[in-house]
Amino acid sequence: MEITYHGHSILSIVMKDGQKLLVDPFITGNSLTDLKADEVTTDWILVTHGHSDHIGDTVPIAKRNDATVISIVEVCSFAEKNGVEKTHGMNIGGKYDFPFGRVKMVHAQHSSGYEVDGQMVYMGEPAGFIIQAEGKTIYHAGDTSNFGDMALFGDAFDIDVAFLPIGDNFTMGPHEAASAAKRLKAKQVVPIHYNTFPVIKQDPEAFVRLLPESVGKVLAVGETLEL
Ligand code: NI
Ligand code: MN
Repeated sequence: MEITYHGHSILSIVMKDGQKLLVDPFITGNSLTDLKADEVTTDWILVTHGHSDHIGDTVPIAKRNDATVISIVEVCSFAEKNGVEKTHGMNIGGKYDFPFGRVKMVHAQHSSGYEVDGQMVYMGEPAGFIIQAEGKTIYHAGDTSNFGDMALFGDAFDIDVAFLPIGDNFTMGPHEAASAAKRLKAKQVVPIHYNTFPVIKQDPEAFVRLLPESVGKVLAVGETLEL
C-alpha cells in the first residue's frame, strides 16, 4: 500500500487493488494541505473524532464520491443527518473486516464535539485506528495525550507505522509522543498534527531525534510512504 501525508492529521492510503482510504480530511481551512476538497477521490473515509479539524470536509467528499464513512457511531449519525448515505459506525475496542482490511477502533484521550448553530453537538468519544491490510499494521492515533494503554496496543499488534500527534497544546507534545512510541514498539513513527496553527508549532526533526535511530520519519506534505 501507499500512504501519503497531506498535512495536519490527513492520510490517504491506496491499496494494491486500487481501493482508496482517506483519514481525517480537514482540507478547507487547512493552509498546509496539498489536497483540494472538491477534487480528492476516495472509497472510504475514516474519521478519528468529531472536531472540525478532523471531520473537516468529510460530508461533501463522501457525498461526491459515494464513499463510506467509518467512525464512531455518533460521527456516523451526524454524517447521515447531513446527507451521507453510506456509513459504518463502530465503537471503542471493536474491530471489523472491511473489503480493504481490518480496522480496530481504539480509545484516545481527548474530547469530541462539533458546533452547529452555536450549539456544541456531542460527537461520541475520540478514537484512534489500527488498520491491518496487506500484511501490514498502521496505527493512526487521532488526537490524544500519551496514555499507558498504548503498551497494550504495542503488545497486541506488530505495528509497522504509527502516526502520532506531536503538536502539543491540544494533544501530546514531542516528548510525550516519543514516550508513546517506545510503548507502541512501532517500527516507524511519523509525526502528525503540528504546524497547522501557531499554538501547535513544532520541529518534527527534533521529535525524530528523540526516537531510536531510524525509527522516526518526517513525511513532507504530499510525501508517500510505501509499505
Ligand atoms: Ni481534536
Ligand atoms: Mn485536532
